[in-house]
Amino acid sequence: MAKPRVLVTRRVPRECLELLKKHFDVEHYDRGTAIPRRRLLKSVRDKDGLLCLLTDRIDAELLAAAPRLKAVSTFSVGYDHIDVPACKARGINVTNTPGVLTESTADFTWALLMAAARRVVEGDAFMRGGKFKGWDPLMLLGGDVHGKTLGIIGFGRIGQAVAKRAGGFSMRVLYYDTRRAAPEAEKALGARFAPLKELLRESDFVSVHTVLDESTRHLLDGKAFRLMKRSAYLINAARGPILDEKALVRALKSERIRGAGLDVYEREPRTMPGLASCRNAVLAPHLASATVETRRRMGVMAASGLVDALICKARSPYAVS
Ligand code: GLV
Repeated sequence: MAKPRVLVTRRVPRECLELLKKHFDVEHYDRGTAIPRRRLLKSVRDKDGLLCLLTDRIDAELLAAAPRLKAVSTFSVGYDHIDVPACKARGINVTNTPGVLTESTADFTWALLMAAARRVVEGDAFMRGGKFKGWDPLMLLGGDVHGKTLGIIGFGRIGQAVAKRAGGFSMRVLYYDTRRAAPEAEKALGARFAPLKELLRESDFVSVHTVLDESTRHLLDGKAFRLMKRSAYLINAARGPILDEKALVRALKSERIRGAGLDVYEREPRTMPGLASCRNAVLAPHLASATVETRRRMGVMAASGLVDALICKARSPYAVS
């Protein structure tokens, strides 16, 4: 019997491809850049499964171009690039990669937080620019991390993993979410629920970990930044459009907040004009899950989502709806 046909839209870890090739007839767009839209629409036409990335839009136009499609698996935990209700209406399974990137993403959140607070990137540029003339009591002063208040917006897996690490820095942890965490989780993590405005007013570090949907788009705008302490830092390793990036540039330039650590942007791969010249922002190119181990795990999980749907014909444990 002919194997189901699958399209892979980007260069992926070897383990992911090996698993797919065992079960499927694979067409692979084996490049380190996003597949051009026209090519995607053409290639998906005769495919049963699609292994996509968060840089591919899976919308009505794509579904109309893919009459045979039965399964979409995204190589990401976020799936805001996929029209899940439209897939569901067509009976198309959608899977993602939850859990396997939680710890790496939490680690990176802390890397951004520490780099922003302690001016690591500025220090590096200073050294390489030959500007270091010896120890100076007032050189590149940052803000303390230990003993401060961390406000976490979105208290799911990743938010909670970030909270867990705050214990090592003796921090007070506040969190905001639309749902309260179980009292045992609050106790274990030493975290207290706070309404969003209170969290913004009280936190020295505000870290964003919520999903992107219509209720969280521009959740943090100019008004929110004005509620924050002038000495506060904003960290975002979730999704760019949760912040109003234009308002953030204004807040950073006017030092309405002291700094930011960003891994995601409103219109990736572009950044808002002015952001790159904010010396008080640490900018990373969407790297939070980018470790060898985690990307390998994500790849195998993404491939397994297609195997579950197209070979085992079973509901995948990674089904998103
Ligand atoms: C990365 O942003 C992901 O959603 O996995």
